[in-house]
Amino acid sequence: MTMDNNIKIPVLAAPLQGVTDNVWRMAQHSVFGGVDAYYAPFMRVERGEVRRKDLRDVDPERNAGITLIPQILACQPDHALMMVDALKQRGYSRIDINLGCPFPPIALHRKGSGMLAYPELVEALFKALAATDGVEYSVKMRLGWDQPEQWREILPLMEIIKPVNIAVHPRIGKQQYKGDLDIGQFEALMAASAWPIVYNGGLRTPEDIEVVMNRYPNLAAVMVGSGLAANPGMFAPDATLDDYRRFHDLLVDGYTEQLNGGEAQLVRHLQDIWQTFLPGIDHKLFKAIRKSRTLEQYQAAAAAALMRAL
Ligand SMILES: Cc1cc2nc3c(=O)[nH]c(=O)nc-3n(C[C@H](O)[C@H](O)[C@H](O)COP(=O)(O)O)c2cc1C
Repeated sequence: MTMDNNIKIPVLAAPLQGVTDNVWRMAQHSVFGGVDAYYAPFMRVERGEVRRKDLRDVDPERNAGITLIPQILACQPDHALMMVDALKQRGYSRIDINLGCPFPPIALHRKGSGMLAYPELVEALFKALAATDGVEYSVKMRLGWDQPEQWREILPLMEIIKPVNIAVHPRIGKQQYKGDLDIGQFEALMAASAWPIVYNGGLRTPEDIEVVMNRYPNLAAVMVGSGLAANPGMFAPDATLDDYRRFHDLLVDGYTEQLNGGEAQLVRHLQDIWQTFLPGIDHKLFKAIRKSRTLEQYQAAAAAALMRAL
């Protein structure tokens, strides 16, 4: 548990594909901190091999000084085992299993939250993973794919892998990121679980965390996604404009080094940061960021947005 965020429960940074990559994690950690462990966005097997980009993201050298929990997304046991192998080779002994991704191209292929409608697939996956040694697993899941009680058939299967914990985002996959959180089902799952539960969903401030902690004193941890992407200084109440500038500079430097598709690709990637970072900035400033075509234009627009937002 970190000592610097005054929160008396471990705080986990949720994986956000396209946002919380190694560049973002290292920038968040070095400028603001307050996070006990970071989940990497899911890795997957494509055309028979673990995606290189995913492996690069979890490269221990690119994640020095933080606790990183890599996450795998697979339906086929052989794909999952390939990823576990690659991660073990890189020194990881704790791996998270994605049973939560709601993105239709993935879920409709019975991966992520789509798998929750097929307990027999989850069982086969867990059995294969349980046979690996030297690795502990955690699970990140939704309540179900298209029914909020599908977890009831999944929970008993946890016995196979004996997860360190289960992070629950209390929606069904079909809801994507919209609609109400089903707190009733979350509470039922928590009561039925023999495994430690992590709450994930809608936490945007330390006060939100306090409320959840007080309501569920037995929680193992809380997990924060969009709230931390929106404000990476969520746990650094004394952070200044200069800190946010430094954070942004680290993203620019990191992506300049890591992307090799030229200036246009770099600018597009930096523009995308603003889909989640500091939401609510003035529409004109947001538009200026979107319209920039060169790094110089982007930097000028981003500087104005940072100045105004903070
Ligand atoms: C853009 C985006 C990408 C995400 N990528 C992942 C991912 O790679 N793995 C995962 O388990 N969840 C992923 N999620 C889900 C989040 O980790 C989290 O469960 C969800 O956003 C709810 O938490 P929050 O309200 O704190 O954001 C993603 C969510 C978003 C919005």
